[in-house]
Amino acid sequence: MIFAIIGSGIVGLTYENTYERIKLNEQRVLLRKLNTILSPSEYDNDLLVDKIVLEQDSMLGTSEPSNAYLAYKNNKPVAIVLSPVAPNGYSGPINMLVGIYYDGTIAGVRVVKHRETPGLGDIVESQRSDWILGFDDKSLENPGSKKWKVKRDGGEFDQFTGATITPRAVVKAVHSALLYFQEHRKKLFKQTTDGSGTVKNS
Ligand SMILES: Cc1cc2nc3c(=O)[nH]c(=O)nc-3n(C[C@H](O)[C@H](O)[C@H](O)COP(=O)(O)O)c2cc1C
Repeated sequence: MIFAIIGSGIVGLTYENTYERIKLNEQRVLLRKLNTILSPSEYDNDLLVDKIVLEQDSMLGTSEPSNAYLAYKNNKPVAIVLSPVAPNGYSGPINMLVGIYYDGTIAGVRVVKHRETPGLGDIVESQRSDWILGFDDKSLENPGSKKWKVKRDGGEFDQFTGATITPRAVVKAVHSALLYFQEHRKKLFKQTTDGSGTVKNS
């Protein structure tokens, strides 16, 4: 009996310890990813503290609440990093981070999770090619909405030989995230950022 109590106590403590460590590691990885989109010199707040939770929204391609990270400098809004999903990748949803400066230009886009085919669709990963950097500095005006497509469809963005579906899905989702931002910008930056607020659609 005593051994059983001591044993389960040790298991419990180990779990607690490991859980905390895993959580901390996940946060570190996320912050590193966010900092590939927004350089730390561009903001002076804690992105992980100033996190808000957005309700599911078709413009973000989300079917459940998603996180957004607000960047400020000297208390002035600098940018937001949204977590939209491209629902129609070749092999399913593609999870992304889309950083948008307060003026509506893109700070950067990164794919964080996908199941696209190695050597074909995975070229959207920044580790595999520079394709995803092609969104930097783009906005709803640059290019205009008719050009927010892959070249094959008459747009501005490259596709890959024999793999049009993945880039088509990503381009559409990034454009849609920009439209979401345009519609919600004022409300997004008004959120009290205690990490617990959920932004309701209006
Ligand atoms: C096994 C297999 C895996 C594929 N994986 C992808 C993929 O990850 N992304 C993609 O866009 N197309 C993928 N394709 C190709 C698509 O089926 C489609 O042919 C292509 O996207 C159309 O591009 P194209 O118009 O340049 O031929 C794959 C095809 C096969 C046979």
